[in-house]
Amino acid sequence: MKPGGFAGWGNRPDASSSTHQPPSMEKPRIRVLLLCGGQSTEHEISLESCRSVAAAVDRERFQPFVVGITREGVWQYYGDEDFADEVDDPTKIHLRPDAPLCYPGRSAQGAVLYVEGMDAAIPFDVAFPVLHGIHGEDGTVQGLFDMFGVPYVGCDYASSANCMDKDITKILLNSAGFRTAYALVLRRGESLTEDYVEERLGMPLFVKPARTGSSVGISKVKTAADLSAALKEAFRYDDKVLLEECIAGREIECGVLEMPDQTLFVAHPGEVVPHDEFYSYAAKYLNEDGATVKVEADLDEEESEEVKRLAAKAFHVLGCKGMARIDFFLSAQGDWVLNEVNTIPGFTSISLYPQMMKNSGIPYAELITNLIENALTRHQNASVLLK
Ligand SMILES: Nc1ncnc2c1ncn2[C@@H]1O[C@H](COP(=O)(O)OP(=O)(O)O)[C@@H](O)[C@H]1O
Ligand SMILES: [Mg+2]
Repeated sequence: MKPGGFAGWGNRPDASSSTHQPPSMEKPRIRVLLLCGGQSTEHEISLESCRSVAAAVDRERFQPFVVGITREGVWQYYGDEDFADEVDDPTKIHLRPDAPLCYPGRSAQGAVLYVEGMDAAIPFDVAFPVLHGIHGEDGTVQGLFDMFGVPYVGCDYASSANCMDKDITKILLNSAGFRTAYALVLRRGESLTEDYVEERLGMPLFVKPARTGSSVGISKVKTAADLSAALKEAFRYDDKVLLEECIAGREIECGVLEMPDQTLFVAHPGEVVPHDEFYSYAAKYLNEDGATVKVEADLDEEESEEVKRLAAKAFHVLGCKGMARIDFFLSAQGDWVLNEVNTIPGFTSISLYPQMMKNSGIPYAELITNLIENALTRHQNASVLLK
């Protein structure tokens, strides 16, 4: 099916493929589709992340163009133009309205974007989902790109889906010998007595939806009387909710990057020190004083090597690709407890993942180049395997 308003299939709009141009010896730039926005609660942070990526990507090698996904799930085409308004306020930043609609698809030449009102489809070589949460970090958009046979940055559909669901992540990690916070799982319609919960998990405990991010829907429960309100809040966001023992200790985060040759690089770990009860949504985005974020955690050599080893192992166990930020607790007893795996971590130039990479010798623009090259290499190797 061809979406309305679009007329052509084959005519590539960039000069490098025009028959009227003399053949150029220069390597054509790699066309990178940057996807941002989306339907998740992390829409705004995705716009911020994408602005940073678009500003820093190496334009000698790559030709970026942006597609913004609205909160309603509509794809809008921005090309290489500004795509966001009110960019200085993280609570107000939004996609510029009135951009043409677009649809991804596949022509005989490869993946393309059909843009309303344009008479030629726009081909692209690689996609970079700078999205968080539902339909961005959960494997859905990754599966879509698989269907179109186009490489994409970061985790594949299966590892994205497994890491999005905190219950499944635990099952996989526990079976590989990792320590995670002990949890009870409730599906919508199920219930547990307060006594049973308190006996198994103690107090305080954490209640969290299985598949959100940015601490959305998460509560720290201190007394049995607060349990039902916390469950109600978590069930607003998901049909599955975890009740978790509280791990008292430090929060240490590890950035893992799969290099273009597919070897793993793990940056020196960072640390988050929440100033309040825990690292809440407000502490992450609204309250500048909500937490201290340390690009380099103060760990001794042995601790640092151990958590890096665990992060690399978890990356492989979960089948991650490209990148992940793997978050641990270092418990008061000195145990490493793996909390969660973020397959598309915050990606503004001041976010912890890029900062940890920079601190360990990979500046932001080089990080983007590595990720895109990694996506291209993996795709090439997978194509060979398919033959
Ligand atoms: N079991 C736990 N013990 C102690 N703190 C926790 C626990 N689970 C979550 N937290 C706190 O809540 C924050 C958000 O929880 P997390 O599981 O990382 O969800 P999200 O995916 O929304 O970031 C953590 O950074 C931490 O401060
Ligand atoms: Mg977290």
